[in-house]
Amino acid sequence: MAIRTGKIQLARHLMDNPIYKPWHHFGHLYGMNASCTFPFTVDNVKAALMIYSSDENAFDKNEIKLLHQLSKNISHGILHIRNQIALANKNKQVEQLLIQTLEVASLALEKRDPYTAGHQHRTADLATAIAIQMELPQEQIQGIALGAMVHDIGKIYLPAEILNRPGKLTDTEMNLIKTHPQAGFELVKNINYPWPIAQIILQHHERLDGSGYPAGLKGDEILLETKIVSVADVVEAMMSHRPYRPAHSLGDALKEIKRNKDILFDRTVVNACIKVFKNKNFKFQSKHDFVSFEKSPQTRKRRGDSV
Ligand SMILES: [Fe+2]
Repeated sequence: MAIRTGKIQLARHLMDNPIYKPWHHFGHLYGMNASCTFPFTVDNVKAALMIYSSDENAFDKNEIKLLHQLSKNISHGILHIRNQIALANKNKQVEQLLIQTLEVASLALEKRDPYTAGHQHRTADLATAIAIQMELPQEQIQGIALGAMVHDIGKIYLPAEILNRPGKLTDTEMNLIKTHPQAGFELVKNINYPWPIAQIILQHHERLDGSGYPAGLKGDEILLETKIVSVADVVEAMMSHRPYRPAHSLGDALKEIKRNKDILFDRTVVNACIKVFKNKNFKFQSKHDFVSFEKSPQTRKRRGDSV
């Protein structure tokens, strides 16, 4: 009746009141002799808070006032929870859209640059495994995975003939290639990602001792996220077959990062990377492998084996 009328219903003598006859059985069963019912609505849904007492004539003026306020608070509380859920779903949708923009960007680059097709995905797989090994928070791991997935996106501005051509690059061409972190940064810097994607892209060729590019950042000037992506980038690049050289072994790749521990690469990240391979038996997914190309007899050596 409270819901139907929208008014507070007070039954001081529940068991004597013929209106409540259908509930008399439960009244006897649970010892209920008085009740007070407070209607409320949440959005368009009508509901009621029902309070029973074993005492007859149990509710005084102040108690009714207090319980009425409680029913209003419940109504606000439910509405608040509903809004929170709606907002969380909305944020999830926005997050998914942001992730999709990164996936499209990654795919667009890989279409132009078959030699490194899959490199970004495999780097993301290893960087994620390292971040998990380091027991980083889930949110940070997600940022690392996504940043790694597009870390070379700036290469989309480079002429395809330079990216795809086996053989030695001229100094001018190398300098052009070295613009890709800045170019990638410019591409995404205005997109308000909840992760430091733009910084990961910008810094992924920076090295601990300041010998990297574009800014020659040192030590903790480089984000932890980037330090992880850099190690994964180098290991993946070394272990992939390139038209100008065969793939390095896992042993060689790990030796390289170990040799440069505290020089080019962060000690904790290197140790975690080694554990990922040695203890967790990490393997790169073959489904991300690039399309095969004829090997070129020409070779070129690149520092760190990743540009
Ligand atoms: Fe790169």
